[in-house]
Amino acid sequence: MVVSNRVPVPKDGSTKAGGLAIALEGALKESGGLWFGWSGNIVGDASDKPEVVQGGKITFAVVDLTQQDYDEYYAGFANRALWPVCHYRLDLVQLERSDTDGYFRVNRAFAASLARLLQPDDIIWIHDYHFIPLAAELRKLGFNNRIGFFLHIPWPPSDVASALPAYERLLRGLGAYDVVGFHTPLDVENFQQCLVREGIGQPMGPNEYQVDGRRIRVEPFPVGIDTQAFARTAVSGEKNALVRRTKASMGDRDLIIGVDRLDYSKGIKQRIESFSCFLKSSPAFHNRVTYIQITPKSRSDVPEYKRMQHEIAEQAGWTNGNFGEVDWTPIRYVNQTVGHAALAGLYRMSQVGLVTPLRDGMNLVAKEFVAAQPPEDPGVLILSRFAGAAHELNGALLVNPYDTEACAAAITRALQMPLAERQERWITMWERLQTNTVGAWCRQFLSCLADSAAEAEEEPLEPKRARVRSRSPRRQATRA
Ligand code: F6P
Repeated sequence: MVVSNRVPVPKDGSTKAGGLAIALEGALKESGGLWFGWSGNIVGDASDKPEVVQGGKITFAVVDLTQQDYDEYYAGFANRALWPVCHYRLDLVQLERSDTDGYFRVNRAFAASLARLLQPDDIIWIHDYHFIPLAAELRKLGFNNRIGFFLHIPWPPSDVASALPAYERLLRGLGAYDVVGFHTPLDVENFQQCLVREGIGQPMGPNEYQVDGRRIRVEPFPVGIDTQAFARTAVSGEKNALVRRTKASMGDRDLIIGVDRLDYSKGIKQRIESFSCFLKSSPAFHNRVTYIQITPKSRSDVPEYKRMQHEIAEQAGWTNGNFGEVDWTPIRYVNQTVGHAALAGLYRMSQVGLVTPLRDGMNLVAKEFVAAQPPEDPGVLILSRFAGAAHELNGALLVNPYDTEACAAAITRALQMPLAERQERWITMWERLQTNTVGAWCRQFLSCLADSAAEAEEEPLEPKRARVRSRSPRRQATRA
């Protein structure tokens, strides 16, 4: 059973394609399972009885939220407290007692709805920052199922994390899971530091802690994509009508592409500054290159997001006004969602992928860009060192997104990179993406959850010296 706030319930054949939704859909569509979460609807009076919809092998079960729930749990605590803190943006944190109360209240309500569907042998895999306390609420209701948690955003060092309201309660809430997973070893290290510094988690062995009498495992599981399938989509995407029109409109100019939700964590402002800096320092590229930034609006009812919509639009307009020519618009900035096939085709025709978040859990755009490239003439990925993907994609040009001059130099270098170097860089990333697929991510997490169950049965709960983990093949979990 999978739980996430957004659930891509099939409606008119369309799904919401966020990073989390894509990852989980890829993982679940073959094995099948039940996917529980928010319906996306706000209603006057929310029932705790989930609405159930069948979509292929996946059963979707969703509940509505009231306006107050949405404001306090989603727009408030999740996106004005947890999101900025986890993205190291203490300057943007908004603390409201009512939001904190609402977050825990909604988690209690989700647990009560979920309880209606649960069987004693169900393995439950809960996703993302909206649901940190969900396992603790289920435990209170008497459920002893194996419950795993995966965080799709970064986890900051303890000095930053401790700015969270209800910090200790959140840490103890994570202690109610059997396995807690993060994207990178850095996130794991930060979380372990929080457990130890607060005296909440007692080390039991490598990556194992005792929290309030329970044993938890804390491990990195870097999420991937369905690499082969995405590469195929990119090939067929070349025939997509939007891709063909875009290609025709480019003439013989090179294409730089950026694709991000409109979010301050994505570093779009710094990226446009870097592009301006590149244009200023490299006049030879004027009218030779176009930068397309595809940026669907996001969380527009959160004030910090509304503010940045104006800022970015103004900045793109200013750059075009300053550097553009009658027959050349340097930046095409669009607030639209582009379909999967068209996006894959656009990545494939791009010479440069610009993925420069100020902080990101993983960033699947980076992986999709690499998977979409033609091996005989691959484009260059410019990637922020602060994206989780930087831990794996070392064939990218890694940049500090705050250093706009260095990013501008990386753009010039990418556009001038010889074919042999582009191929060499691309092949190492492609090979990595073939191994770390979304399917592998799913299997590794579930296998760790199953192992943790076996170990809990075998071993008494006593602190012990570090030991080497068994190398025996992990038992395969059969149900999610
Ligand atoms: O990055 C975390 C995440 O949950 C992504 O997985 C997802 O694409 C995005 O946030 C969606 O945000 P929201 O549900 O608020 O639109």
